[in-house]
Amino acid sequence: MPSVGTETAAAHGYVIRGGAAGKRRLELLGRSLWPTTCQLLKRTGFGESMTCLDLGCGGGDVTVGIARIAGPSGRVVGIDLDAVKLQAASEEAARQGLRIEFRQANVYEWSERAVYDRIYTRFLLTHLPTPLGAVERMRCALRSGGVLVVEDIDFSGSFCHPPSPAFERYQQLYREVVRKRGADADIGPKLHSLLTQAGLLDVKIDLVHPFHLDGEAKEMALVTLVNIADAVIAEGLATASELDAVIDELDKYTRRTDTILSYPRVFQAWGRRA
Ligand SMILES: C[S@@+](CC[C@H](N)C(=O)[O-])C[C@H]1O[C@@H](n2cnc3c(N)ncnc32)[C@H](O)[C@@H]1O
Repeated sequence: MPSVGTETAAAHGYVIRGGAAGKRRLELLGRSLWPTTCQLLKRTGFGESMTCLDLGCGGGDVTVGIARIAGPSGRVVGIDLDAVKLQAASEEAARQGLRIEFRQANVYEWSERAVYDRIYTRFLLTHLPTPLGAVERMRCALRSGGVLVVEDIDFSGSFCHPPSPAFERYQQLYREVVRKRGADADIGPKLHSLLTQAGLLDVKIDLVHPFHLDGEAKEMALVTLVNIADAVIAEGLATASELDAVIDELDKYTRRTDTILSYPRVFQAWGRRA
């Protein structure tokens, strides 16, 4: 696998730190979201012996779950831009005895025709300046009757309690840095129309909104802020010293036992190829 990690992901406009640091963040995300993602995979008919793709698979946290569902007679592929995450994903799959084909590709250069029974993609479209083109390519890569399943965020719906200036600043910086890179941190509610416009049929949506009073998942906002720091500084949205102060304040707020922090709202959408 070519050695393309953090720098290349950043060069493609991806705002969250890639490589090993990015992978650790995704593991935390993966653990906390697995129950609702697993329910979604079952509800949308992921099953044994299927040929499945996880596009923008990152560290492969969902890909391994899909491979378990598809079983040894299935075929599972994971595609991502970040070779460091892919390498770790492939080691983890081997450790778990799962056969998964991990490939490095930019979604804009990827194209396959009528290959998959199911395509899953989580938190990828929010980073793409032209998500419709990517969804159209996903539709083409499905076999007739195959289903595309998407989960993506609505950052505008993040909340905390009680109010926190540090959390508000984090929310503002995240949405702004993604916007500056030409993408959309609030794409979630638009998924239904995106899938419909791309020609998928019977498009359905649902919503999950995790929030945390304690536990490791409560740290997600803090970890995300640390991981977007390079992009925020590069875009001139804050100085390193301002960011240090916000990170410090958000850290203290997260550690309090009386505070609640939410994830962005997570929209789920799925539709079938004719
Ligand atoms: C927020 S992560 C989500 C990873 C995984 N889907 C999950 O939910 O754990 C987004 C992933 O999209 C990948 N990505 C961003 N832009 C991409 C592109 N143009 N082509 C392929 N992958 C891309 C990043 O490298 C990153 O691993």
